[in-house]
Amino acid sequence: MIFDSAPKFRLAFASLVLACVSGAAQAQAQAPSAAPLKVGVMLPFTGTYAPLGVAIENGFKLYVQQQGGRLGGRTIDYVRLDDESDPSKASENASRLVKRDHVDVLLGTVHSGVAMAMAKVAKDTNTLLIVPNAGADNVTGPLCAPNIFRTSFSNWQPAYAMGKVVASKGAKRVVTLTWKYAAGEESVRGFKEAFEAAGGKVVDELTVPFPNVEFQAQLTQIAAAKPDAVYVFFAGAGAVKFVKDYAAAGLKDKIPLYGAGFLTDGTLEAQGDAAQGLLTTLHYADGLTSARDQGFRLDYAKTYKLQPDVYAVQGYDAAQLLGAGLVAVKGDMTQRDAMVRAMEQAKIDSPRGPFVMSKAHNPVQDIYLRQVNGHENRVVLVAAKGLADPARGCRMN
Ligand code: PHB
Repeated sequence: MIFDSAPKFRLAFASLVLACVSGAAQAQAQAPSAAPLKVGVMLPFTGTYAPLGVAIENGFKLYVQQQGGRLGGRTIDYVRLDDESDPSKASENASRLVKRDHVDVLLGTVHSGVAMAMAKVAKDTNTLLIVPNAGADNVTGPLCAPNIFRTSFSNWQPAYAMGKVVASKGAKRVVTLTWKYAAGEESVRGFKEAFEAAGGKVVDELTVPFPNVEFQAQLTQIAAAKPDAVYVFFAGAGAVKFVKDYAAAGLKDKIPLYGAGFLTDGTLEAQGDAAQGLLTTLHYADGLTSARDQGFRLDYAKTYKLQPDVYAVQGYDAAQLLGAGLVAVKGDMTQRDAMVRAMEQAKIDSPRGPFVMSKAHNPVQDIYLRQVNGHENRVVLVAAKGLADPARGCRMN
């Protein structure tokens, strides 16, 4: 009624209708990109790496939540899969997410062997893959591809930095110990490369099968060899057990123990006294003074009633990277080339400190030397500034 008697209102109504119609038309045009984005979250939720998987997922979801639940205008649907850190099931698991669940993006995983299988599936199906932990050198080496990105590290990175640190402490003879699989072997190789270039010698390379936590035979061998230092790669529940066993064997005060920082990240409450004073290298640390890190830690602690660790940071940054790509194409993943370009050029404002992607899609980042103090891996210094993985064998096509 009111419109009949008031022409200016009629006009307003007409333009409102027009706006609605063109809005609807626009929404229709955008329909494919406005549908929720499906993220296949393939992580370990059981076994020795389960806490790492949980922290990665928490970190990822925290960033999405901070963006109001949307990345590039798209809400996110999660399809979760427990990969059990089992490489023998990895191809089938990743294929299922891509072919049965039709995920738009694969997010995963922790274990290097599983991640290599995921990278092959991602390559074969041209699915976008973001690796939020697994350091397998191959993923940003021979397996590198335009659709594969990593927001964590290569196994080489923290290990190489530690090789230099241990040499600078005057150690000449070192024994290494790790689980026998890609991550541990590559970590030892990276350590050895830097340590021996600086004049040291790795005199014995000991291994135990993954995920065994029986270390007595190796601890006896270390005690007998009396090296100047020991370098190890362990993580998660296995790292807790190893650090305690090393101290219980009476070795902690006799032979300095060094490791890639996974040895003491997310593990300190369980390790207690046995971890105090240990030096490790990693791309994250406690005691960074940036407002970015402090804000992240506060939000994470409030949301999950837990302290964040390196895994939470890597998950958070995976969401940041995906967000950078999606914002650039306004959520339209069919514009894959533009999306990849934006991800390649992104400067990620990480709690660890800002980082950029290498040509092989691996973070170029500072590696910190940290020392355990109470429940913290306190930053001591930057052991390697802006360290880029050498990306051996990567031919980006
Ligand atoms: C790996 O398998 O690449 C891996 C697993 C756990 C870590 C770090 C690396 O904490």
